[in-house]
Amino acid sequence: MTSHSEDAAGAQRPAPAPAVSIRSALPADVSAVDQLVQPYAERRILLPKEMVGYYEAVQEFLVADAGPAGEPRVVGCGALHVMWNDLAEIRTLAVAPSVRGTGVGRLLVEGLLDRARRLGLSRVFCLTFEVDFFVRQGFREIEGTPVRPEVYAQLLRSHDDGVAEFLDLARVKPNTLGNSRMLIELNGGGAAV
Ligand SMILES: CC(C)(COP(=O)(O)OP(=O)(O)OC[C@H]1O[C@@H](n2cnc3c(N)ncnc32)[C@H](O)[C@@H]1OP(=O)(O)O)[C@@H](O)C(=O)NCCC(=O)NCCS
Repeated sequence: MTSHSEDAAGAQRPAPAPAVSIRSALPADVSAVDQLVQPYAERRILLPKEMVGYYEAVQEFLVADAGPAGEPRVVGCGALHVMWNDLAEIRTLAVAPSVRGTGVGRLLVEGLLDRARRLGLSRVFCLTFEVDFFVRQGFREIEGTPVRPEVYAQLLRSHDDGVAEFLDLARVKPNTLGNSRMLIELNGGGAAV
């Protein structure tokens, strides 16, 4: 297979992006999601998860499927993790190197933001090295942890490492080094922080 094709005049042009559909992840997708995330987790770009963690969180995930009907080929994934009554986080967003730059990441973020809207949430957070990509999706960089002290105190009770990163706790600082904290407000605002 080649990544280029020839037009009628014989000129080389990039192969078109595969037709990709965005759908809810199924338990059967978990091993593909794990394989997609692992190389990014090894480079400390994404937080690693145990397999059991993926199964537990499978209902938070969307996948990008580039396979024909009945033959799934997962080329991207991303999850929306609810943190509070107005707030969620986009996490574990990963696109296969072979299709990066073809719009798959944007489709996944759009799908996750749609989910957030349908859940009645007004703000979505993410922690990332990919600032320019997220700015293009409407996020802006923020400082600190955008919740009231009483919500902060409640979130401290969570055992989730992603929540610890959101709270910027000392024990997860090595994971978040160099990452930017980003936020998008949906529908122009919503519940007060
Ligand atoms: C970040 C990531 C998800 C982007 O996915 P992608 O499918 O390559 O991105 P897309 O093709 O949908 O790009 C959408 C737009 O962002 C731009 N873009 C993508 N990556 C970019 C980057 N690193 N810097 C600047 N712009 C970028 C694209 O050019 C495109 O621009 P357009 O609006 O003019 O069309 C992917 O690179 C990835 O898996 N990275 C590793 C994991 C990671 O960092 N995840 C985020 C943390 S949760």
